[in-house]
Amino acid sequence: MKTIRPFFQSLPLLTAGLLALAPAARAQDAGGGATLTLDLGTPGAKVSPTLYGLMTEEINHSYDGGLYAELIQNRTFKDNATTPVHWSVVQKDGGNGTIALDNSQPVSGTALTTSLKLTVTNAGEGVGIANDGYWGIPVKPSTTYKVSFYAKQSGAAAGPLTVSIQSNDGATVYAQAQTPAPTGDWAKYSATLTTGADVQPLNGRFVIAAGAPGTYWFNLVSVFPPTFHDRPNGNRPDIMQILTDMKPSFLRLPGGNFLEGNHIADHFPWKQTLGDLSQRPGHNGCWGYRASDGMGLLEYLEWCEDLNIQPVLAVYAGYSLKREHVNPGPDLQPYVDDALDEIEYVTGDTSTKWGAVRAKDGHPAPFPLTWIEVGNEDGFDASGSYDGRFAQFYDAIKAKYPNLKLIATAGGKDPLGHREPVTKRTPDAFDEHYYRSAGEMESDATHYDNYSRTGPKTFVGEWATREGRPTTNMNAALGDSAWMTGMERNSDVVVLASYAPLFVNVNPGGMEWFSDLIGYNTLSVYGSPSYYAQKMFSTYLGDTLVPLTAQGVPTQPWQPRGRKGQPPPPPRQAPVLFFSATRDSKTGTIYLKAVNAAKSAETVSINLKGASHVSPDATSVVLSSANPTDTNTLADPTKITPVTSKISGIGTTFSETLAPYSVNVLQLSAQ
Ligand code: AHR
Repeated sequence: MKTIRPFFQSLPLLTAGLLALAPAARAQDAGGGATLTLDLGTPGAKVSPTLYGLMTEEINHSYDGGLYAELIQNRTFKDNATTPVHWSVVQKDGGNGTIALDNSQPVSGTALTTSLKLTVTNAGEGVGIANDGYWGIPVKPSTTYKVSFYAKQSGAAAGPLTVSIQSNDGATVYAQAQTPAPTGDWAKYSATLTTGADVQPLNGRFVIAAGAPGTYWFNLVSVFPPTFHDRPNGNRPDIMQILTDMKPSFLRLPGGNFLEGNHIADHFPWKQTLGDLSQRPGHNGCWGYRASDGMGLLEYLEWCEDLNIQPVLAVYAGYSLKREHVNPGPDLQPYVDDALDEIEYVTGDTSTKWGAVRAKDGHPAPFPLTWIEVGNEDGFDASGSYDGRFAQFYDAIKAKYPNLKLIATAGGKDPLGHREPVTKRTPDAFDEHYYRSAGEMESDATHYDNYSRTGPKTFVGEWATREGRPTTNMNAALGDSAWMTGMERNSDVVVLASYAPLFVNVNPGGMEWFSDLIGYNTLSVYGSPSYYAQKMFSTYLGDTLVPLTAQGVPTQPWQPRGRKGQPPPPPRQAPVLFFSATRDSKTGTIYLKAVNAAKSAETVSINLKGASHVSPDATSVVLSSANPTDTNTLADPTKITPVTSKISGIGTTFSETLAPYSVNVLQLSAQ
C-alpha cells in the first residue's frame, strides 16, 4: 500500500506532451493542488488510429480452454504420450471396461495417429469414455452442442453409441443422443445435444457409451457449444463480446513466445494449422501444454475479421526460446520463404498458390495487412544473428510487398531486448516490452515524451503492470493508466500498443503467467480493473492530441524491487497525477484523462487555454476503488467498473477533484 507524501512538490515538467510548452499561467486556484493547462489553441499531432490493440498467444489456456470454443480437452489423445489424460472410463450397472492409448490404428489420410481404445468386457447398462473438459464441460440451459468424433469397432455386436452431457457422477443426464453403430472401418459420426430450459449452469462431463461388449477406438472427439457469429470451429461468444467492447484496432498474433517455441522445431507451424481439424497434428506449446492448433492461422484471421481489425502478423524469424538460432544466409532462406508463403496466405488473391489454399479453406477474400513483425524478443539471442536475420527477412518481404511495414523485435530501446543492434536495415518500427510494478510505471510515465520524432516508430507490443493474480488489481490499473497517458500523449511515436497477456483461465492450473487482463472459467468471463482502464482509454479517444502542461503535482514514495538476497533499494518518488488529452476533430469533444494514484482525493485546477466557448456541462467516467489491492473476480466480476455521471460548472478555468485511486475521463465540449 502506498502512502502519499504530506506535501506538494512541483515537478519541473511532468507531462511535456508533444510540444515543450512554456509553463502556463496558474489557473484559478482551487486550494493549492496541481494545475493543468490544456492548450486548445495549438494544434497537436494526430493520434495513431492503431494505438490500442490486442496481443495474443497460447498461454494461460488462452485458446484451448479459453477463447476457442472446443469443450473437449485432449481430443486427439496427444497431450500425453503414455496416458489418456482428461479421459476416464465410466461403467454403469454391471458394466466393465478399460481405456488405453493406441498408436496402431491411425485414421488413414489424417494427422490422427493416436486413438483411444475402449475395451468393453461386460456392457452392463453401458460402458463409455468420459472427458472432463477444461475444468468441466459447461452445462447451460437451452443450449445446443455439436458433437463429432471418429470411431471404429471390432468384435462388438452392432449397436448404437450414446453420447451425453451429464453430471460428474453420472446421476443426471442433461442431454443425450445416439449415433449409428460403428463399423470395422473408421468413420466420422455426429450428433447434436440440446439441454432443457430448466438446467442451472454447472460443470459436468461428456460421455460416449457403448451398449455391447467389444473393442472400440475413438479419435478427434469434439463438442462445440454455440460460437460467436455461429462460425464453425469458432470462438466463445462471451469472450468475443468483452473484446469487442474494448474497440481494439489490431491483434498481434501468434505470439509472443508461442511464435518461437522452446526449440526451432516447435515454432508456430502455421501450415499445419490449416484445413480440416483431422489434418492438424497440433504442436508442443511453450507454456507447459500442447496446442491443439484448432485456433489455426485462418481462425486467427477470422477472429480479426469478427472484431473488424487487422492482424499484426508475427513471422517466425529463426530464433527459439532455448537460445537456438538459425544463421542468416542459406540456412535461414526456408524460414524466409515460409514467411512469404504465410503473407501470401493472408493477403494473396485466389490466383496465388497460398491465396487459393485460403479459398479452399473457406475464405476466398484476402485479409487486410499492414504490419509484419519479424520474430519475438530477438534481443535475447546473444549470438548476434538478428541483424543479419532481420535484413534477410526485410529484403525478401519488402521486395515482394513494398507496402508492408516491418517491425524489428530487438535493437530499439526495449529494456528486455536491447542487446542486438539492428544496423543493416532500418525497420518501420521497433517492438518494446515492459513488464513492471505500478511504481515503475508511474515513475516512468514520461518515458516517451523525449523520444525522437524521426526514424522508426515504436510498437509497445507487450506491456503490463504486474500486480494481482491471476488478473490485475486496482493498483495495476493505476500503473497501467499512468503508462497509457504517456503512450497516448506520444501517439505520433507510439503507433501501436498491446497489453499482455490478454487471457487467463482462472482455474487452478490454468495460469502460467500473472497478471492478466481478462479471466474466465467454462461458464463466465470477467474484466480486471486494468481491462476497464484500457477500455476507457481506447473508447474515449479523439483523433488529435491536445498539448498539456501540469504543474504542482505531488509525489509519493514507491518501493523498487530489490535483487534476490540483497537489501531492498531505497524508496523512490513518483508523481501521483497523470494526464493526457485528445480531441475529436469532427465533434469537438475533448477527452481529458486524469489518473490519481494517491490514496487521497486530489483537486486539479484546469485551464482550457485558448478556448473561446466552453459548454458548462460535461460527462465524467470514473474507475476507482477504496483499496489498491481490490480486484474483480468470477464471483464479483463488476466490483470495480467505470461509473458515468454528468457534471456541470465547467468553464475556461475550473477545478476537478479526483477520487483516491482513480482513473478518470472528462468529456468536455469546448471551441
Ligand atoms: O507475455 C508473456 C511473455 O512475455 C511473452 O510470451 C513474451 O514475448 C514475453 O517475454
